Amino acid sequence: MTFSLGPIPIKSPFILAPMAGCTDLPFRLLCREHGAGLCYSEMIDCHGLVSQQQDCLELLLTNTEEQPVIMQLYGSDPGAMGKAAAILSEYPIACIDINMGCPMEKIVQTGAGAALMKNPRLAEKIITAICKNSTKPVTVKIRSGWNQHTITAPKIAKIAEGAGAQAIAIHARTWSDGFTGPVDHRIILQTMESVSIPVFANGDITTHEQGQTLLKKIGCAGVMIGRAALGAPWIFSGGVNQHPSMAYRIKALLRHLELAEIHLAPQPNLSKIRNHAWKYFRGTTTGAALRKQIDATTTYSELRGFIHTLAERVLQQ
Ligand SMILES: Cc1cc2nc3c(=O)[nH]c(=O)nc-3n(C[C@H](O)[C@H](O)[C@H](O)COP(=O)(O)O)c2cc1C
Repeated sequence: MTFSLGPIPIKSPFILAPMAGCTDLPFRLLCREHGAGLCYSEMIDCHGLVSQQQDCLELLLTNTEEQPVIMQLYGSDPGAMGKAAAILSEYPIACIDINMGCPMEKIVQTGAGAALMKNPRLAEKIITAICKNSTKPVTVKIRSGWNQHTITAPKIAKIAEGAGAQAIAIHARTWSDGFTGPVDHRIILQTMESVSIPVFANGDITTHEQGQTLLKKIGCAGVMIGRAALGAPWIFSGGVNQHPSMAYRIKALLRHLELAEIHLAPQPNLSKIRNHAWKYFRGTTTGAALRKQIDATTTYSELRGFIHTLAERVLQQ
């Protein structure tokens, strides 16, 4: 099952969700190597991009191997979002996404992220401004609504399609749900019924099988995976390695370190990479002990040394 984003064919319906602090170029490349059909960047502040702030510019790192990639903007000012889209359009990326799901206080306070789920008028202005200024297809990532009394996903999706969006990703929880509690697939279905563009279902897909089942059950164009992909990029491929051995886990982590070393000069950020590293051992008998040891490393070379020594031991067995 495949779909297209504007002119871009997407070869697998399994999609990596945007995750701030996590979905940088090395991790996206790794997920692509494991079969992800499409990867989203971390969210990028439209004002930071317009004023060329260094921390924002670093988030724009991409290359041809990882295509198609979607880069995500957040903000609540249509003018600044439009300008940021024009800048982002110049980069060799596939699509521009609009964040309408971030629940963080400092974001919603400004009217951005999930706050747009309760402000359809502003949402429409932003999507229109981005579509007008972008030469790339535009997508929108939404939540179910603001809270259980304000379920706006079908309405906002329709507005987005009308304003020119080419796909919708929906995290089927409201702002007030945060990241916990049940995901409501009925709202995904209602959203799909309200538009004719591809819809990606997101929220609590924890195995490849679950993703396959959801694709069949509701017929969405794609399934978007966030937390369950961290430390487990193999979730995108399915097949034999869904309960990987220690050797398979460590090889995936070594590849992650290798990609990070190639692409993040002068060297990967210690706390970011530590935060990825321990997750490769989640659910294993030694997982908790390894997390402690990984968290105790104080430099990137120390972490690297620890992982390589561990790999030698595990791969010899
Ligand atoms: C650490 C973290 C960072 C996130 N950052 C973003 C982000 O930058 N943009 C966004 O739209 N969603 C962000 N999300 C939400 C995810 O994209 C996704 O919608 C959510 O985690 C639910 O999917 P999951 O259950 O598969 O994790 C983030 C989630 C996590 C856990």
